[in-house]
Amino acid sequence: MPKFFLMLCTSLLFALLQSCASSGVQTSRFEIKEGNFYLDEQPIQLICGEMHYPRIPKEYWRDRMKRAKAMGINTVSAYVFWNYHERQPGVFDFEGQADIKRFIQIAQEEGLFVILRPGPYVCAEWDFGGYPSWLLKEEGMVYRSNDERFLQACQNYIQRLGEELSDLTLSNGGPILMVQVENEYGSYGADKVYLGKLRDMLKKAGFNVPLMTCDGAGQMEAGRVDGTLSTVNGAVGEDIFKSVDRFHPGGPYFVAEFYPAWFDVWGTPHSYRDYKKPAEQLEWMVNNNVSVSIYMFHGGTNFDYTNGANTAYGYAPQPTSYDYDAPLGEYGNMYPKYWAFREMLQQHLYKDEQLPEVPAPNPVIEIEELVLTESAPLSAAFEKTVEAERPLCMEEMEQDFGYIHYETILNEKTKGTLTIKDVRDYAVVLLNGKQVGSLDRRHRQSSMEIDVKDVPAKLEIIVENVGRVNYGADILNNRKGITEKVSINGTELLGWKCTSLPLYKAPVGSFNYQNNHIKGQPAFHRATFTLDSTGDTFLDLSSWGKGAAWINGRSLGKFWNIGPQQTLYVPGPWLKKGQNELVIFAFEDTGARTVKGLKEPILDQLGADKNKREKSTLDYGLKPVLESGDVVLKAEMSNEQGWQEFQFDSPVTMRHLALEALSTNDGKSLGVCELDVIDKDGNVLTKDTWKVVYVSSEVEDKGFAEYIIDGNLGTQWKAGENDQRPCVIVDLGEITSVKGVRLRHSYNEQSGRLKELRLYGRPQFFLLKD
Ligand code: GLA
Repeated sequence: MPKFFLMLCTSLLFALLQSCASSGVQTSRFEIKEGNFYLDEQPIQLICGEMHYPRIPKEYWRDRMKRAKAMGINTVSAYVFWNYHERQPGVFDFEGQADIKRFIQIAQEEGLFVILRPGPYVCAEWDFGGYPSWLLKEEGMVYRSNDERFLQACQNYIQRLGEELSDLTLSNGGPILMVQVENEYGSYGADKVYLGKLRDMLKKAGFNVPLMTCDGAGQMEAGRVDGTLSTVNGAVGEDIFKSVDRFHPGGPYFVAEFYPAWFDVWGTPHSYRDYKKPAEQLEWMVNNNVSVSIYMFHGGTNFDYTNGANTAYGYAPQPTSYDYDAPLGEYGNMYPKYWAFREMLQQHLYKDEQLPEVPAPNPVIEIEELVLTESAPLSAAFEKTVEAERPLCMEEMEQDFGYIHYETILNEKTKGTLTIKDVRDYAVVLLNGKQVGSLDRRHRQSSMEIDVKDVPAKLEIIVENVGRVNYGADILNNRKGITEKVSINGTELLGWKCTSLPLYKAPVGSFNYQNNHIKGQPAFHRATFTLDSTGDTFLDLSSWGKGAAWINGRSLGKFWNIGPQQTLYVPGPWLKKGQNELVIFAFEDTGARTVKGLKEPILDQLGADKNKREKSTLDYGLKPVLESGDVVLKAEMSNEQGWQEFQFDSPVTMRHLALEALSTNDGKSLGVCELDVIDKDGNVLTKDTWKVVYVSSEVEDKGFAEYIIDGNLGTQWKAGENDQRPCVIVDLGEITSVKGVRLRHSYNEQSGRLKELRLYGRPQFFLLKD
């Protein structure tokens, strides 16, 4: 049975430390040759675990490393998060939680090697994939490309990182044995000039160890660059050999990301994966001399609002917990996966090697019910207010994360539709200090009814950045707050006061708190409490709605009772014996004012999603006037799953698009999963501002017409059983030149699959009373 080194590395690193301390002489070499990794001429198999320093309380860095070592890990793999270090251009922070140098030194002290993944793009379910939000201020900058302005920003960051870390490479006496260039770049582009420039920047910055790239098997060709090792992400078994052999036959084989689990998304069930299969897959790699990095070995927490979002099936932000169902859970707890991996890895050590004892679990405590009796208004956190004609977005305000407050005065009585273009990503709307609604980008909400009776009226809109997109083409489209304008009944509202509220770093403890119980509007609430002993605990916020919390001035991240996460992790070292202070920001106030600290987290409980509509808002009494002259396509869909594309003879200008179903393939009542529209250049249009304006029938709740444009392949528009000719009309938000559509059948077997169809297009269809 093949064996891998573990303890050897410890003694070797120890020797390295000694000799470097005394002489500063380069003593070790990590090489890629003859299909293998070599450490000072000895073949070495890397068993890596991914961990992210900002997601682990600094006080626990060593604890997590010890647990990694005790499971059988010999190398820590770590991204570097550019936007965590350069929050404003040229202003770098490498202190406290951002002290990556210390993180790497601790790894070395614990006998672990390090693979450094400095991006600059990292993905990682991290806001904007690690890019600083100030890049978004530059009009037209193309990220992940050979754009000069972008590369200059990368260069400054990598150069500074080199100053911080290059003396920690293996060749210089540290534990860093490889450095990654970019991250899964092949899933995004294939620009070798760009990749080559990044590679050269890293070398120039002093990273004098082998470089690598990582990509999914299908994207390795696009993502690789000369002078680096291509590694594969996500492959298991023989596929690893097949993928890698195309580029360097015979190895070395390195699965730079092996997923024993997955991340969570707000409002969807907790991701969970049993340990058996991953343990088998990992063992196969160990047996076959495949080096591997477990993504994640230990996920941790997005304490500073740093989570990202995906948009493949509509806006899907990740929660505060990055537990990931990884072997080592969010608070350093060992899941069954940890023990299964450890047991297996133990059997593969050289015979004189033993895994270290697993450290005892850290103490956990309960906190009895606290009552938050004191409150401070949201304005307590106001620092800088800027006046502007139109609302400024966060990036124009030089703001990275958190919330932004907008205010304007309405002088005329009005009743009608308030439209915000675009809401990025969750807005709470107040009229004269009272909440009158909220809009949620996850549900594609951008407008609501408003009734302004008492004038002058103060209209306030507070918008939360729920996470910038970290994957795919939408990273280009990542501004936050209100990105364009606000109108009532089509009339734009001008004259705004804009105030940044990054909050995660707000001095919440120093606000002026009073016993006045502010209700029904965003505000801070505080409790002080004493503890005899400290330990990890989990604040149960399930009754609190939506907001954020701090313990003794440190951000614990955001909560949202839609789940699946209902508790926030409070690291024991952030608590004190004696007096402590808890502050909760109720962004949407449910009236709850009590909270408990539990001994275990709740990460798997979905709550009511109040923004999800249960009832239709469409008027079934209306009928559209569809004329044969407006038909742009007659087509027939096949019975196959997957996208089916239909092109018009030539592009058609339209704002309203009507889909009429004439028959189904199996006679069952119609269900359609998704409709995409293709513009004249062949691009699939984004649907953020689309609306369904008419449907002939829909099954409420499970089959709303809007699900045909929600970007979610798990939902469907389901027509009523007696609807002979189902029809839906979509408003594309603006006049658009359309070349075609793509359609998908519903996965639901109870639904009929669309066969003959007709599409109509025009600037607007008239809807008449029946
Ligand atoms: C990819 C990325 C990682 C992470 C995982 C999913 O493989 O490289 O950064 O986003 O997906 O967790």
